[in-house]
Amino acid sequence: MDKLNRNDSCWCGSGLKYKKCHMEQDKYLEKLSEQYGYKIPRDIIKSQKDIEGIRKSCALTKEILDMVEERITVGISTEEVNKWVHEYTVSHGAYPAPLGYHGFPKSTCVSINSVVCHGIPDEETIIKDGDIVNVDVTCILDGYYGDSNRTFLMGNVSDKARDLVQTAKECLKIGIEQIKPFNTLGDIGFAINQFATSKGYSVVYDYGGHGVGNEFHEEPFVPHIGQKGEGMILLPGMTFTVEPMINEGVPETVVLDDNWTAVTEDNKLSAQWEHTILVTEDGYEILT
Ligand code: MF3
Ligand code: CO
Ligand code: CO
Repeated sequence: MDKLNRNDSCWCGSGLKYKKCHMEQDKYLEKLSEQYGYKIPRDIIKSQKDIEGIRKSCALTKEILDMVEERITVGISTEEVNKWVHEYTVSHGAYPAPLGYHGFPKSTCVSINSVVCHGIPDEETIIKDGDIVNVDVTCILDGYYGDSNRTFLMGNVSDKARDLVQTAKECLKIGIEQIKPFNTLGDIGFAINQFATSKGYSVVYDYGGHGVGNEFHEEPFVPHIGQKGEGMILLPGMTFTVEPMINEGVPETVVLDDNWTAVTEDNKLSAQWEHTILVTEDGYEILT
């Protein structure tokens, strides 16, 4: 990255002079980077304009999941869910981020039972009584991304599956509660892993949360395991997801021959919940 002079136009594309735009913030981040011993990327803090755009995209993402939650039922195919998500998204002026993302063929991910994430909807996969079904929605509205998922209990779900889904939901909440300026990513992962393991479950480490907003997957990677005080510090204006995947058995995952579907290595159940979060001056705001 070239060093800018005060009168150059800012790297962020605002058209403003650097000194009137990101210069002070960049100096501050450089100082923090030195102090903490790792590079904090200058574009990890969103502008007010970007935050407004991300907020709108996240609101639509939430609305899409609410729509799915109302309609989803035993006996339909996962392709049916995909159609709902696709049509609702485009009819609200947005685009489904999964479609075509690194070749992903559908508009949403639907992951049932032992599928950890990235399940590909199709006509043949029918939702059955007792299934736990994760639907992951990401939309792009005016160029901004919102990303969220929920796991639905379909019909008569076993007590153990219900407990796993509830624990995954609590893991998300507990992780989010760690979010405030100058806490670290490690604080989030530590809290999640501690709670999940206290319940006898394991936490997936092959996948994690991620910066999100101007792109689908941005820095930083947000692990759901970790050590207190380790990893990148959190700063106001950062937007990222927390999306713990909690397993009934071992934490290891395997990707199927379709190159997307991630399943648990032992074929036991996995559950997940996801929100997009904004770090605020004194804590967090859940955007989805
Ligand atoms: N929405 C997922 C996430 O939470 C990513 C899905 S990538 C896709 O990060 F290509 F499978 F859609
Ligand atoms: Co995500
Ligand atoms: Co997602």
